[in-house]
Amino acid sequence: MIREILTYPNPKLRTASHDVKNFDDRLHLLLDDMYDTMIDRGGIGLAAIQVGVELNALVINLSNENDEQDKNDLVEIINPRVLQSEGVTTYQEGCLSVPNVYEDVERFEKIKVSFFDRDGKPHTKEYEGLMAIALQHEMDHLQGHLFIEKLSYLKRKKFEREWKKRAKTKE
Ligand code: CO
Repeated sequence: MIREILTYPNPKLRTASHDVKNFDDRLHLLLDDMYDTMIDRGGIGLAAIQVGVELNALVINLSNENDEQDKNDLVEIINPRVLQSEGVTTYQEGCLSVPNVYEDVERFEKIKVSFFDRDGKPHTKEYEGLMAIALQHEMDHLQGHLFIEKLSYLKRKKFEREWKKRAKTKE
């Protein structure tokens, strides 16, 4: 089922989520809905807080070499912890909670994380490339942070001006 995505400046997006304790049907339904919502909106990643649920859960589904979002490539990550990070990379990021805004953001190039899958089984994995970038973006959501907070002062001001202008034209 497709859920509503909260958009900036909804204060709930600033909430720090907490760990999942019960790996039950309720969690599975949330993850399934997060996937449906992400695909419906053409996103490659989504954190639970973006659909208003304060849980450390995120989904990422990158496109494959044929430019298709194959569900076999779906990654579900619960209660992630960063164990190691290295390198620097820059990528033009977007976010379903900040629609139609794309800006360069600096991230670690590689990260090693521990996490749980939907059945509560622990995993440790290393990611690089777009997967590492998307994971850092989604993990920021779990802490209540948005990628626009990482912009330079001037770019942030420009974003705020344009966002307000856009909000006005919607009224
Ligand atoms: Co986002």
